Amino acid sequence: AQLDKYAKLAGLSYFGTAVDNPRLYNEQYMSVLQGSGEFGSLTPINAQKWKKTEEVQGVFTFAEADAIANTAKAGVGGMKTLRCHTMVWYKGLPSWVETTYSRDDMEKILAAHIQNLAQYFKGRCYAWDVVNEAIDENGVFRQSPMYKAMGLDFITFSFKTAAKADPGAKLYYNDYALESPSLSTGPKISITLAMLRTVKAQGGTVHGVGFQSHLKVGLVPARAEIVNTMQQFLEVVDEVAITELDIRHSPLKVPSTREMWNAQARDYGEVVGACLDVNKGYGGRKCVGVTLWDFTDKYSWVPSEIPTEGEACMWDNNYVKKPAYWTVLNMFKAY
Ligand code: G3I
Repeated sequence: AQLDKYAKLAGLSYFGTAVDNPRLYNEQYMSVLQGSGEFGSLTPINAQKWKKTEEVQGVFTFAEADAIANTAKAGVGGMKTLRCHTMVWYKGLPSWVETTYSRDDMEKILAAHIQNLAQYFKGRCYAWDVVNEAIDENGVFRQSPMYKAMGLDFITFSFKTAAKADPGAKLYYNDYALESPSLSTGPKISITLAMLRTVKAQGGTVHGVGFQSHLKVGLVPARAEIVNTMQQFLEVVDEVAITELDIRHSPLKVPSTREMWNAQARDYGEVVGACLDVNKGYGGRKCVGVTLWDFTDKYSWVPSEIPTEGEACMWDNNYVKKPAYWTVLNMFKAY
């Protein structure tokens, strides 16, 4: 049983997971991550973020990110695809960035950061999440230090700089609550589409849009709805991907029941199924792959950020595959 193998047969380029560095020392975790052939792609959860790579201005540290990249190379079944995450985000910033800069100074700061990341990982990243989460749920640009200094131009500038520094990587805009209008309280989708059109009109290179897909059981948009949204983005960019998939119980009732896990499995099927359907519609690979935001509940980000919610992953706390795993695998096999 290998998700990546059957995902490829169903028309995707990869099925992957995200991983954070402390887990590389957990044998049980690693035996699933590397030894099972389930995953054909990895994304570093934190290792490439600004705070980890340039905590002190001008001093770049890549040891943690290298550890993930090397893990990807060594995987059973060829975990060849590295999705790189992320160059410019309003979170995970070192304190020296979290202050007020002039436009000129911010340009220099962004250029140095992006060039260093892109050049260091050149040839190793299938894709880069160049800009992450620039617009909030109300469709309003987040007041990040980058936005405050440069307005929307920070996005164009980031994509232009990344394209020059690593012309071989697919450059993505990555965000959550883009899967359907029902997931945001404002016009997030239309504002994001307009932003992408502006960035491209200004000469920025954007190849892809990442649908993070941090979703809640019972509140997952229908498959056709997600397809519809992806199609709207495919009018502006060449490809889309599901980049941070997890579907949490909200609120989480303990102990969880079979019904809860079955409902979660159906929801996983809707999201992954949408990616397959998009490709069918275009007669080609447009939704290129699916990445889990970690595969086991043991290391999910959810309970630490939202203590009343959780059990969002396809594997449980003890590395046992949940119904979601079998639903997705069987869907790939049947496709
Ligand atoms: O490494 C330090 C550790 O030394 C310290 O003792 C500890 C105390 O708080 O913090 C540790 O760093 C934490 C890091 O995760 C590693 O565990 C940070 O505080 C914490 O903020 C960080 O959270 C990450 C979060 O992004 C913010 O960067 C989550 O692991 C990660 O799953 C989450 O991922 C994001 C995506 O990048 C973008 N989309 C949403 C997604 C979920 O929030």
